[in-house]
Amino acid sequence: MKNLIAQVLDKLSEQSRKEKSREADVPPEDRMLAITKETGELINMILRLKKAKNMLEVGMSVGYSTIWCAEAISEKSGKIITIEKNPNKIKRAQTNFEKAGIADTISIMNGEALQILTELSLKKEYGEFFDCALIDADKENVIEYFDLILPLIAKNGIIITDNMLYPEKYREQMKKFSEYLKKNPNLITITSPIGNGIEITMKIQ
Ligand SMILES: C[S@@+](CC[C@H](N)C(=O)[O-])C[C@H]1O[C@@H](n2cnc3c(N)ncnc32)[C@H](O)[C@@H]1O
Repeated sequence: MKNLIAQVLDKLSEQSRKEKSREADVPPEDRMLAITKETGELINMILRLKKAKNMLEVGMSVGYSTIWCAEAISEKSGKIITIEKNPNKIKRAQTNFEKAGIADTISIMNGEALQILTELSLKKEYGEFFDCALIDADKENVIEYFDLILPLIAKNGIIITDNMLYPEKYREQMKKFSEYLKKNPNLITITSPIGNGIEITMKIQ
């Protein structure tokens, strides 16, 4: 991994640790709410194994997960489209991407995820376009996000969803989401206990 990327990831990882332990007193709207380092490493490896070129992310925050993805995607000269509605977080993410030297790999879409995903799904060129997606925004709309993303994913593409097990307040809702996925014969899906618990779903048809 390039030095600049590793440095930014380490710094953000430390910031996330401080937020989670409440060592740093950050107002809720400014919190990173990031995936764990182990989750970042696993997603990075999945992207490499798949030789992924095109990635879609819902819920960028300050870009920690995006950088983990961009590190793998940039090797294939690919692109990430990432969605975020909080303008302050977008500014912080842009700074982080510049510092990591991967800004060219990432295209930020500023706004409401449901609206942006609906717009993307109406564009013919995005049909089965993405090799991989990460869903990590509000949990209330997770099924709607998944349903909008699925037609945009290539056959054998992967959709990863964070927070399947933690925070515990979402567990029941995320269990229903996982059960919903299991009913679909065109998908293979597993819940992995890594990090906050992630759902790894493959579109087989
Ligand atoms: C859990 S954080 C994402 C963390 C990020 N994936 C990471 O690991 O670094 C969720 C982010 O989704 C954004 N978000 C929540 N609901 C959204 C929505 N409806 N549309 C767009 N962004 C949303 C929040 O502002 C927040 O920054």
